[in-house]
Amino acid sequence: MKPVKIGILGLGTVGGGAVNVLKRNAGEIARRAGREIIVSRASARDLTRTRICDTAHIALSADPFEIVNDPDIDVVVELMGGYEPAKQLVLTAIANGKHVVTANKALIALHGNEIFAEAGKKGVMVLFEAAVAGGIPIIKAIREGLAGNRIEWLAGIINGTGNFILSEMRDKGRDFADVLAEAQALGYAEADPTFDIEGIDAGHKLTILASIAFGIPLQFDKVYTEGITRITRADVEYAEALGYRIKHLGMARKTTQGIELRVHPTLIPKRRLIANVDGVMNAVLVCGDAVGPTLYYGAGAGAEPTASAVVADLVDVVRAMTSDPENRVPHLAFQPDAIVDIPVLPAEAIRTAYYLRLTAEDRPGVLADISRILAAHHISIEALIQKEPLAGQSSVPIIMLTQLTLEKEMNAAIAEIEDLATVSGAVNRIRLETLG
Ligand code: NDP
Ligand code: HSE
Repeated sequence: MKPVKIGILGLGTVGGGAVNVLKRNAGEIARRAGREIIVSRASARDLTRTRICDTAHIALSADPFEIVNDPDIDVVVELMGGYEPAKQLVLTAIANGKHVVTANKALIALHGNEIFAEAGKKGVMVLFEAAVAGGIPIIKAIREGLAGNRIEWLAGIINGTGNFILSEMRDKGRDFADVLAEAQALGYAEADPTFDIEGIDAGHKLTILASIAFGIPLQFDKVYTEGITRITRADVEYAEALGYRIKHLGMARKTTQGIELRVHPTLIPKRRLIANVDGVMNAVLVCGDAVGPTLYYGAGAGAEPTASAVVADLVDVVRAMTSDPENRVPHLAFQPDAIVDIPVLPAEAIRTAYYLRLTAEDRPGVLADISRILAAHHISIEALIQKEPLAGQSSVPIIMLTQLTLEKEMNAAIAEIEDLATVSGAVNRIRLETLG
């Protein structure tokens, strides 16, 4: 059968990795897809730059629009990143009747609803396995493997850069900035690394996971997002002493009121497998009503792990090319006319437990004042540590774990505690999930 010709937009970490995997495993890939897949064209900004892949037999272009408008290209693989021109390129490819594979979570999270609607009209596929959790086939697992379940919740370490930074800081005592620079050099970080460290990238991925898990539209603007920049070494050590690890987690949970969508640092019991996922590795826990909790683990970033997901999508596209569009797996797991707009809850409606750290005067009555405020907001204390005052100081760090409470009550309690004359500075709060 005639080979399938693909055009790759972007020859950086993922694009280069994809070219290498397609070349090295060409025989196995063709045996699976039923046809040979040829990288016929590729684009990059700087055509003089040395690449991690061999481009000898690829027609290169500095203008990606030439590729999406080339009638000879069957599938466009968008690996440039960013919103524009990626969005225009993908929409043009779709308008030209081409299937699309992308690793661009920012694009899917913000513009996926429009892109899938256009793809539906033209009867083409847009696949995006590499957009979430790098090499872990998590989209396929939820969309197809768990299709018999009502998904109840999912929680994941879904940013490799952030997990790499937290692991290196905890295990080797390294500086935040140093580890971030290494993650950039290794090709893990986004073009704008604030996306990684401020939780935006994880928010994009959670948006996609929630959509395919619950059959809701993609709605990144409703995700509560907090990054890792405010985690201190002291918090990491206190959490360890209490039997927890701090991980940056994306959580999506369906409750009777609506859906919680949140990304933030989280204390997780050390005994949970996911608490022991370190470095650039990612892991996603998905709980279905029939299957119970399931865990998916693997490299969350990097050239070849991500290429593994891109190539798997390409094989799926090639296998499905001759099928009728209505017989294909829907882009967002649910049939387009069955997507339901279940409300996403505001941050104040989140129910979770908390780790609190504050600095207070070391004298009688101070703890009683704090306990009174918490009790008035229906917040029960689960554990409490009061450290020795440092030499020459009259204040002490107090660390508390609370039971489950409403975020709104916690916000009010924290404001009152910070107003106490005996408490100095801000109360540092980290959410806690047992993931049981
Ligand atoms: P890189 O920055 O390494 O590569 C981007 C490529 O796109 C480069 O070849 C660049 O050209 C080209 N490019 C960028 N902007 C333009 C433009 N305006 N016009 C033409 N070409 C352009 O990015 P990555 O490979 O790391 O990431 C690509 C995508 O994959 C992103 O969406 C990212 O979020 C996603 N992703 C990345 C992972 C990773 O581990 N890196 C993992 C999972 C997903 P040039 O080389 O000349 O600058
Ligand atoms: N910057 C992303 C990360 C790439 O570190 O997880 C993979 O999506």
